Amino acid sequence: MIIKPMIRNNICINSHPIGCESGVKRQIARVKKLFLNKQKPEHTPTLALIIGCSTGYGLASRIAAAFGYGAVTIGLSLEKPASETKPGTPGFYNNRAFDTQAAEAGLVSFTMNRDAFARETKTRAIQSVRESAAKAGIPPRLDLVIYSLASPVRTDPATGVMYKSAIKPIGAPYSGKTVDMMTGKLFTASVESATEEETAATVKVMGGEDWELWMDALENEDMLSPSARTVAYTYIGPELSWAIYKNGTIGMAKQDLERACTAINRRFREKNGADTKKRAFVSVNKALVTRASVVIPIIPFYVSCLFKVMKDKGLHEDCIGQIVRLYQERLYTPEAAADPDKTPVDEAGRIRIDDLEMRDDVQAETLALMDTITEENVWSKSDIVGFKHDFLEAHGFDVEGVDYDVDAPLMI
Ligand SMILES: NC(=O)c1ccc[n+]([C@@H]2O[C@H](COP(=O)([O-])OP(=O)(O)OC[C@H]3O[C@@H](n4cnc5c(N)ncnc54)[C@H](O)[C@@H]3O)[C@@H](O)[C@H]2O)c1
Repeated sequence: MIIKPMIRNNICINSHPIGCESGVKRQIARVKKLFLNKQKPEHTPTLALIIGCSTGYGLASRIAAAFGYGAVTIGLSLEKPASETKPGTPGFYNNRAFDTQAAEAGLVSFTMNRDAFARETKTRAIQSVRESAAKAGIPPRLDLVIYSLASPVRTDPATGVMYKSAIKPIGAPYSGKTVDMMTGKLFTASVESATEEETAATVKVMGGEDWELWMDALENEDMLSPSARTVAYTYIGPELSWAIYKNGTIGMAKQDLERACTAINRRFREKNGADTKKRAFVSVNKALVTRASVVIPIIPFYVSCLFKVMKDKGLHEDCIGQIVRLYQERLYTPEAAADPDKTPVDEAGRIRIDDLEMRDDVQAETLALMDTITEENVWSKSDIVGFKHDFLEAHGFDVEGVDYDVDAPLMI
């Protein structure tokens, strides 16, 4: 089947199997290059569980753990497989490509397509961690658990009630400039303010409760190594996005993630003693083009300008660049790998790999640039071209070296 991107309102409803496979191979090649000649500290991950492993930050976290440190990885995500007539979701192909590449490199990996929020998934994941560790001949103790879910819904396993997340402001409606990446059309997107129920539901879906449940399940089954690290991802961003992000429904969920981080660390200490080396972190990451981020008003416009400024300054990073820096310069510096208290964090205890995005000069120049952008100059003055490329690439399109005019197998 010849597959061309089908995009409307910054949402792409299909994917390209060969393009996704090539994209994963390219990410692996980048990781290998970034780890070349790097000295490895004594304690780096050998067995990692990546919750939300198929795209964006989770995929990068898995690739960097496996191809950077040689870790055995168990990945969990929820993706639609291909059918006779339709390609699967990008993550479906990414997972396949990852497992194939890992096997070729002699790395043990196992990927599960299941709802991360379900109790049974946790039980099955624990079983898979044991089996994968046995296959690799290593102890079944995870030293890294990445929590990188971006989900629209969650069914609470305790009550069976399904909650839907919403990206909305709280207290007042929000209007923000945004850009249609296919046409370059600039327009104002408005979002009504959230009800209390919508805010509570978003916290249920994207907050920290499920992360806590995962860590409790793993701790109770003795699946964590004595120096296990667990990391969940968040975003803060510039003040102009706060009404819709940091102070909106999703921001409340992210606040809850930080609450959960403190609770997990407390339970680590209660169970393992005050000097335990097990540690949970929230990492504040950079705004990037992933399937989750492009539908938030203001973000596509902001990111198109941010990328232009960061690329001009030689500071731009993609998911791989971000996660490799998270590992090499935060979690696994020789000092931090041996002692989690030596992990570089901000005053609130969060890891900051959004530091380059948030630099004063980067922010000032991005905001100034945003003020000058019109429909006439958006293609030349902003990096909407780079934004569009990253978006297409996340669905397997616009990947260098892929011939989109030849039949692609759906790989059912
Ligand atoms: N993209 C950004 O700009 C950005 C910036 C900072 C932080 N973050 C955070 O990083 C995390 C990951 O975001 P992303 O942009 O990489 O998203 P993404 O959409 O690329 O990935 C989400 C992952 O979650 C999985 N998933 C969703 N629902 C699931 C379920 N019920 N069960 C199992 N797996 C499920 C998907 O399969 C996928 O692997 C989020 O917490 C997000 O808030 C993103």
